[in-house]
Order: sequence, then structure tokens, then C-alpha cells
Amino acid sequence: MSNSAATPTVLIARRLLPAGLDRLAASCELRQGGLDSDAERLRELAPGVDAIVSDPTVAVDEPLLDAAGPSLKVVANFAVGYDSIDVDACRRRGIPVTNTPDVLTNATAELALALTLAAARHVTEAEADLRAGRWTGWDPGAYLGVELSGATFAVVGLGRIGRRYAELVRGPAGEILYVGRTPKPDAEAELDAIRVSLADALAQADVVSLHVPGTPDNARLIGRAELAEMKPDAILVNTARGSVVDSAALAEALHDGTIGAAGLDVYEDEPRVPAELLAAPRCVLLPHIGSATVRARDAMASTVADNVLAALAGAEPPNRVA
Ligand code: DGY
Repeated sequence: MSNSAATPTVLIARRLLPAGLDRLAASCELRQGGLDSDAERLRELAPGVDAIVSDPTVAVDEPLLDAAGPSLKVVANFAVGYDSIDVDACRRRGIPVTNTPDVLTNATAELALALTLAAARHVTEAEADLRAGRWTGWDPGAYLGVELSGATFAVVGLGRIGRRYAELVRGPAGEILYVGRTPKPDAEAELDAIRVSLADALAQADVVSLHVPGTPDNARLIGRAELAEMKPDAILVNTARGSVVDSAALAEALHDGTIGAAGLDVYEDEPRVPAELLAAPRCVLLPHIGSATVRARDAMASTVADNVLAALAGAEPPNRVA
């Protein structure tokens, strides 16, 4: 199946919101996989397409790129994290890869803050008890959490989202630590943030919030040994990628009281949520909704269209990452 030169074909692997879809539909033929599409279905839809719109659930791998063939001009990811894309395979074929930075920074940092607060105050457990009729009255000793005023926050990965999270917690924070490969003098000046090693961050922080990409380097960055370094009432927040945390070790740390609580939005093999996490105490679990605001998702969809349309016009896509 080959597309005509005049009308490029775009494979929307799963779903693109109208803010981007309508712009693409105005000048492109669309093939849409839908939310249930699997790898096999995508390979059936791929031959001859000029662009693939992926998202964090879509593996853009050699077989899909081979199925698309030489007509493919861009892989545009509907997300900032692009760990589901085989970037090296795209590079070898000279296919640009793009993402949607900036527009989801506030939404994701705000969700990390929501998880921080919910984990600190056992919000989901308390609400579940109330809804299930288990609340028998005000109890001076029930649901005792930790206060964040004066707390030490450690931001692991002070990129856009980590930086915004640091800004949001600047009010209550006693101290902000950050872990990163390079010093960020502007953040140090504006937020009084102090760069420390991961080991020091884990040992000193009351809240550790993860904002690193899901690269192989960061796989299981937080495992049993790292959890053991944290304070017994510390909170771990992960809105980055599930691969960054060893979920079995985390569940064990929550059961043993090695750490105080956790707030998670991401999992290694989504949408599967490890049974041990579902059973773990003091653990707030959300279904990967970090960027799920109307403003962010519309802007992400529009950014995808910007990138696809630029690449199809032979121009440099604005958010090229490879
Ligand atoms: C991203 O953009 O990488 C997010 O995980 C999607 O919400």
C-alpha cells in the first residue's frame, strides 16, 4: 500500500486528541490503531506511512519501522518520555524522533505534589475506609501522617518537571536537595537548592521525588539498598517511569517500615500493576495520569501535529530528540 505524493499518510498508533488530530486530518490521510491496537495490528497498518504518532504504551521497534518501510519520515511521540522508542533504530534509518516537552511540565509536577501530599497524609487509605463504612469516629491515633512544612525534599533529576516540582514545594520545604549529572547554578540561586549525591539525598530527605528519564542507566535506580538508606518515615514519589524503581523491593520496604509511604503514577509493565504494590500499605497508586489535564493533553496533541507537519514539509521538527 503506498500513499500518494500529494497526501501523506499518518499512522496514529492509538489515539490522538482533536487538538492535534484535526490539524493532521486537514492535510493527511489518517490510519488509526485505536486504544486496543497491539504490535501486530500496528504492523498491519504501517506499510507506506509517512509518519507514526506513538505514545508511551507503543513500542516503536525494528519490526514496526521495517513494516512502515522507506516512506517513513518521522516518529512523533505523544509524550515527553520516549523510552518506548528504539531511537538507535530510528537514527540508523535517518528518521527523526520528536516528543512533547514543556507543555506537560506543570501538570506532571502538580501530580507529583498531589502524590506527595496524599502519601504524607494517608489520603487514599483514609478515604477508602470511609467509603467502605470502616470509619467508626474521630480517633486521636488514626491516620497519623507527616507534615511537609520544614521537610527536606530531594528532587532526583532537576530537568523541567523536577525543577517545577522544586518550585511548587519551595513554600513548605525546609531544604531542597537535588541529584543530577550536572550542577544547576540557576536553580541553586533561585530555589536555594543544594546538589548532593543520590546517597546523601536518600539519607537526608523526608521526601524523595523521582524525575529522571526511563533510560537503561536509570533502571532500578531505587532498589533495596537505596530504600534501606532512606529515613523510616520518608516518602518516595515516582511520576517518571516505572523502570526507575524496583517495585518488589519497594513493596517490601513499605511492609517492613523501612520507609514511610510511597506515591506512584508509573509502573514497569503498564497497565499491569504489580500485585505486591497493590497489597502494600501506605502506598498511593495512580494510573499514569501525570499529564492528564485538558490543557496539557491538548497542547501535547497540538505539539505532535506541529512536529509531524514540519517533518512532512521537509523542515526540522521543533521538538526533535533524535
Ligand atoms: C510523558 O509525557 O512521558 C508522560 O509519561 C505521559 O504522561
